[in-house]
Amino acid sequence: MCSLRVLLSAGQIHARIAELGAQIDRDYAAAGPVYLVGILKGACFFLADLARAMKTPARLEFVGISSYGKGRTTSGEVRLTKDLDVSVEGQDVIVVEDIVDSGITLSYLIQVFQQRHPRSLRIATLLDKPERRQRPVRVDYVGFRIPDQFVVGYGLDYAEDYRNLRDICVLELDN
Ligand code: IMP
Ligand code: MG
Repeated sequence: MCSLRVLLSAGQIHARIAELGAQIDRDYAAAGPVYLVGILKGACFFLADLARAMKTPARLEFVGISSYGKGRTTSGEVRLTKDLDVSVEGQDVIVVEDIVDSGITLSYLIQVFQQRHPRSLRIATLLDKPERRQRPVRVDYVGFRIPDQFVVGYGLDYAEDYRNLRDICVLELDN
């Protein structure tokens, strides 16, 4: 059995994403289009809402990564399961992630993207669990810093469930 406790409501998420969109608009004034590269599947709702919270012209791309398996801890192995459809050489790129935990996924992806020679490369994450970091990652846009708890909803899953919850909830497993 497990229980869900709301950590961040849909309203709080919406308000924070509006702020991030405004921050991106200030940073990329007169630039564009910016390539928002979402990491499937967890970042899908965040990317969709962030793209509409900014006025800067955006193009949407996605990559697929497998690292987590079906459990709650990282396997430490990262693999690209879906690559970009386009070249981002000379473009402004923002990688959009749902949550930075150990940092293993993003440090791998940053390495992959740097080889594609974008004009600039920044990272946006909705959630950050800094306590769990194993690899240093410089994150440019952070929605919320959260404590070391397992969360689901708004794109985040546990074994593929709970992604379509509107709020972000702490998943507590009672045994
Ligand atoms: P990292 O490579 O350890 O930074 O892991 C990042 C990935 O792990 C995220 O993209 C999520 O898919 C997953 N993840 C980390 N923490 C959580 C959590 O609390 N809930 C759901 N997924 C998580
Ligand atoms: Mg993910």
